[in-house]
Amino acid sequence: MSKNYKYDICIVGGFGHVGLPLGIVFADKGLKVLLNDVDSKKAEVINSAVLPFIEYGADEILKKVIANKTLTTSLKKEDLKDSKVVMLAIGTPVDEYLNPKTRQFLEVIKGFKDFISEDQLVVIRSTVFPNTAEQIKLILGENHKVAYCPERIVQGYSVKELNELPQVVAGLSKEAEDEATELFSKLSPKIIKTSIGEAELVKLFSNAWRYIQFATTNQFYMICENYGVDYNKVREAMVEGYGRNANLPTAGFAAGPCLLKDTMQLSAFNGNNFMLGHSAMLINEGLPNFIVDQLRKKYSLKNKKIGILGMAFKADIDDIRDSLSYKLGKILRFYGADILYSDEFACDPTFISAEEMLKQAEVIIIGVPHTKYESLKFPKETELIDLWNII
Ligand SMILES: NC(=O)c1ccc[n+]([C@@H]2O[C@H](COP(=O)([O-])OP(=O)(O)OC[C@H]3O[C@@H](n4cnc5c(N)ncnc54)[C@H](O)[C@@H]3O)[C@@H](O)[C@H]2O)c1
Repeated sequence: MSKNYKYDICIVGGFGHVGLPLGIVFADKGLKVLLNDVDSKKAEVINSAVLPFIEYGADEILKKVIANKTLTTSLKKEDLKDSKVVMLAIGTPVDEYLNPKTRQFLEVIKGFKDFISEDQLVVIRSTVFPNTAEQIKLILGENHKVAYCPERIVQGYSVKELNELPQVVAGLSKEAEDEATELFSKLSPKIIKTSIGEAELVKLFSNAWRYIQFATTNQFYMICENYGVDYNKVREAMVEGYGRNANLPTAGFAAGPCLLKDTMQLSAFNGNNFMLGHSAMLINEGLPNFIVDQLRKKYSLKNKKIGILGMAFKADIDDIRDSLSYKLGKILRFYGADILYSDEFACDPTFISAEEMLKQAEVIIIGVPHTKYESLKFPKETELIDLWNII
């Protein structure tokens, strides 16, 4: 018989980019949500009803759910036992050799074993290496209910997307699938049921596909640059009135904590046999080098004042995780350039304002297309490298 729980959902990794907005949205639907995490600094911020990072549309809801106590925080793993659903949203990184750190993830789960019973539903929300759900069940016990319901939002826009996107739901048992379906039906307009293996690949393929699309457009950009043709004009002519090309993205840095990482997880899963994924990595990670090489063909970079405008990994957010702007800066500095960094959202005492960069830099490279940059007036004498085509 199901016991009465203090919370409907406990999100482990609840202060993160996936866990926090998800918790806020569930709490807004009236569920009692506990965010569990290990980061005491973020706990203070969230408890004072402030978002620790940009999440559009979440501020007001956070204030409301903190005030009415449908959303609370915890730093103790013992609290997991008080929740009907335990949702796992902690990070699933790859190591410096691009191997998934699956064991690290599973070790964390082992630490929760004493606080999760067979009556509770365990939902994996993190993007995991295939077969992780079965491994979790092995750790917890044969009769535990485990489901995989991957997160597919675009960072910064969870509140909108969680209410709009179909949710893929997979369970290791019918009971787990039914309970996870009931839970996500409170958010999503549509539930897509799959097997666990299918759900794992839906998520990894989605990120690899996006990463390969960016690599394709970045390779086209490099071909055009070498040929002396404006890629933005080529691309515009390709997509205009021609639906088959409509989803060709602009060139730009394909960075952040997910796309490369998940492409490499997929490669590791397939015995390192994922040529397309590896090629995409070489192209996307090679783009900063390409930009620097193009500049070096024109002049020496020694003491050249070069500004990188936009340090976040994605437009209009404040997250710098795995941003290629830093890699670009590092390579430029290696050739003796004097580097200036600026960002509209990410805070760093060494950054300067966009206006100051416009005054100081001889060359400006758009690192990420924050909306504000579209309206900047770049001095005529400044060389502008805008592979995103925002100006
Ligand atoms: N960021 C995205 O847009 C996005 C989108 C889809 C899927 N994902 C996946 O979701 C997962 C989480 O990503 P994220 O961007 O939210 O990461 P994140 O680093 O922002 O959040 C992870 C949180 O987990 C906490 N944590 C770490 N160890 C813990 C432990 N032992 N107990 C409790 N909390 C712990 C951290 O303090 C942090 O707050 C990853 O698997 C990622 O690939 C991310």
